[in-house]
Amino acid sequence: MTSPKLGVYVHWPYCARICPYCDFNVFKDRKGDEPAALARAIVADLEAQAALTGPRELVSIFFGGGTPSLMDPDWAGEIVSAARRLWAAAPDLEVTLEANPTDAEAQRFSAFAAAGVNRLSLGLQSLDDAALRFLGRNHDAASAIRAAQAAARAFPRLSIDLIYARPGQTPRAWADELRAAVDLGAEHVSPYQLTIEAGTAFDRAVRRGALTPPDAEAGAELFDVTQEVLQAASFEAYEVSNHARGAAARSRHNLVYWTGEDYVGAGPGAHGRITADGARQATYAAPKPADYIARVAESGLGFATREALDPREAAQERLLSGLRITEGVAREEVAALQIAAPTVADLIALGLLADDPHRLRVTAAGRLVLDRLTRELAA
Ligand SMILES: C[S@@+](CC[C@H](N)C(=O)[O-])C[C@H]1O[C@@H](n2cnc3c(N)ncnc32)[C@H](O)[C@@H]1O
Ligand code: SF4
Repeated sequence: MTSPKLGVYVHWPYCARICPYCDFNVFKDRKGDEPAALARAIVADLEAQAALTGPRELVSIFFGGGTPSLMDPDWAGEIVSAARRLWAAAPDLEVTLEANPTDAEAQRFSAFAAAGVNRLSLGLQSLDDAALRFLGRNHDAASAIRAAQAAARAFPRLSIDLIYARPGQTPRAWADELRAAVDLGAEHVSPYQLTIEAGTAFDRAVRRGALTPPDAEAGAELFDVTQEVLQAASFEAYEVSNHARGAAARSRHNLVYWTGEDYVGAGPGAHGRITADGARQATYAAPKPADYIARVAESGLGFATREALDPREAAQERLLSGLRITEGVAREEVAALQIAAPTVADLIALGLLADDPHRLRVTAAGRLVLDRLTRELAA
């Protein structure tokens, strides 16, 4: 019998500069000993969590942040080796690193490839210098292009992140920018609509009236342009904001989340989902690096809390993530929600859900109103 699959998420929380739109768990890059201590704590945490998961087939390791491309590539290598030692690596194990496209980071790409990273997720965000300044980025378009070219040479797989629906952005300018980004050769593109997150510098600017993001109609038009340009370039929208050139180019790691597989979370603020003792357990690590390191030193395990999800909560989570991908979610996986048959029939009649007796799957029209649709089904 094969072991259940497992993904590993590693959170590296440091950034050279905090971007005004970002509400991830991030801290200004630390000089002293803390980053090295954090790398050691992450290895110890993985060792302790392996005792909880038991034998698994390791399908993905994802270094997210923050800015993991700022970490010492040797530390990334030690974390990858530890994970490979603790679980049975799948032959096509995906190891992704998020990177910012500065020249300094691009110079270390080959060292990360030697450490075992085989997929780079590059935070290009834009190819327009004015937009990059507006987004508070510490790179310009020329260095972003150089970084993408270096990444394409160093790694077999490249994904790029872009942020659109910026103030004043026209559909034509966005289409041109997106085409130029696609020409850089990525097999995977994640274009995200700019979201004003509570508590960020952009949120404060919106409240002061200094920043006006595009309204919903303009956002929808830019979303449509995104789909058209990427479809014409042979990308499949396998998830709301994720497009891949062919099935092999899909993010294996994101599929762990969206198909309800287990994952271990290590590093400050990391979440995990582990099936143990007959229930799906949610783990949460302390957000501050010093607290996380202290916790690992005390107990071995990095997470601060672990709670078993009840069947309804687990099904709700499956619905939320499953509806994001084209394959949807099997009806039996969300049986605990006891969704009324007429509700599903109505959504099918409205053209928002596909007419599939086995799976709940959203149509292209349904994807545009995904939040509303999910609320209706999970009510
Ligand atoms: C963990 S972040 C960034 C990784 C890397 N540090 C970087 O900045 O390139 C992952 C992605 O989320 C997206 N993102 C973060 N905050 C966002 C926001 N408020 N609106 C839209 N996209 C956002 C960006 O595209 C970013 O690349
Ligand atoms: S967008 Fe990236 S670089 Fe900017 S603060 Fe967030 S994680 Fe750090």
